Amino acid sequence: MIPTPTPIARVVDAALEGTVVLSFSRVGSEVRSRLEGWPSTASLPGDGRRMLVTGGNSGLGYAAAGALAAAGAEVLVSVRDHDKGERTLTRLHEDLGDDVAERVRYDVLDLGDLASVRTFAAARRAEAAPLHGIIHNAGAMFPDRAETVDGFERTYQVHVLAPFALTSDLLPLLAASAPSRVITVTSGGMYAQKLEVDQLESPDDYRPSLAYARAKRAQVVATRAWARRFGRSGIDFHVMHPGWALTPGVESSLPGFRRVMGPILRDPTEGADTAVYLALADDLGAGPGRLWHDRRPRNRHKVPWTRSPTGEEDALWDRLCRDAAREPSVTTTTADGS
Ligand SMILES: NC(=O)c1ccc[n+]([C@@H]2O[C@H](COP(=O)([O-])OP(=O)(O)OC[C@H]3O[C@@H](n4cnc5c(N)ncnc54)[C@H](OP(=O)(O)O)[C@@H]3O)[C@@H](O)[C@H]2O)c1
Repeated sequence: MIPTPTPIARVVDAALEGTVVLSFSRVGSEVRSRLEGWPSTASLPGDGRRMLVTGGNSGLGYAAAGALAAAGAEVLVSVRDHDKGERTLTRLHEDLGDDVAERVRYDVLDLGDLASVRTFAAARRAEAAPLHGIIHNAGAMFPDRAETVDGFERTYQVHVLAPFALTSDLLPLLAASAPSRVITVTSGGMYAQKLEVDQLESPDDYRPSLAYARAKRAQVVATRAWARRFGRSGIDFHVMHPGWALTPGVESSLPGFRRVMGPILRDPTEGADTAVYLALADDLGAGPGRLWHDRRPRNRHKVPWTRSPTGEEDALWDRLCRDAAREPSVTTTTADGS
């Protein structure tokens, strides 16, 4: 049972949340983690849980995989090739020891290729083992506009479309393993952007941060859409933003930001903390479809103009179904089990 935060803890948390820099930086995670009602991730109930973490070879995904395994969970990480998978396992053995690292496996998944999603999901269903959750973590800010082999702009596909397809393909397994949770790693950058479904692929105005923020906002809206449709199937859907953490992704895509903000960036474990918490905590004390940061549900908007008109959430859902060529259902509906 998660302890209820004290009134002091609530006041301190709210004061941090009012200031983006303090909340997103390591100040936010360090102060909040000292407040009451913040159990260590290693004490969360991981035994008997099987979790999937996408992009588990680097940054937040690597940290999340290690923390889940340290809490006793069995962890499957997705990586883009076998070399990265082998290097990840070696590193986990060095960092966390054999007992923890032995709970982690890997398989290959490229979110820029919907056929790879299908193959990966089919392998999970063939394992005939439960799956209690997914952390959709993999992502990147791409310097230029490019299309995937499926013909979609890659920021949109990697962050929004392919995770939608993967959840769809694994939905019957997640439902059969319930209670289970699907957690998506968005970014505070989405606070600057509203959802406009017809702009998701940035057809005319690609800028890395703009395309990224659009995709990250879409992740928040898609999470609520999933929760509305499948929240009573024993699967919880949540989305979290990690604040600002120093990872290989930030080093390569935002070198200026890294140079200026370096001293106050979180480490990857602090950035991944809420995703791990959402994956394993018994009682989250809040309904599904929520946006979280530092273990608390947060507002989805900081300014009114990022709210979308009524109907945009349904438009996103319809578009994802169409682009992914999937109609999500908790029952197995097709011959190949998807
Ligand atoms: N760090 C932050 O401050 C921060 C802030 C807000 C949000 N986030 C989000 O946190 C998540 C993790 O980012 P990070 O900072 O940990 O970055 P990272 O160190 O670069 O890790 C990103 C992971 O995503 C994988 N990935 C990228 N493209 C992929 C694709 N097409 N198919 C499969 N996997 C793919 C990468 O694989 P490869 O190693 O093969 O490239 C890597 O494992 C991302 O969704 C990011 O947007 C991070």
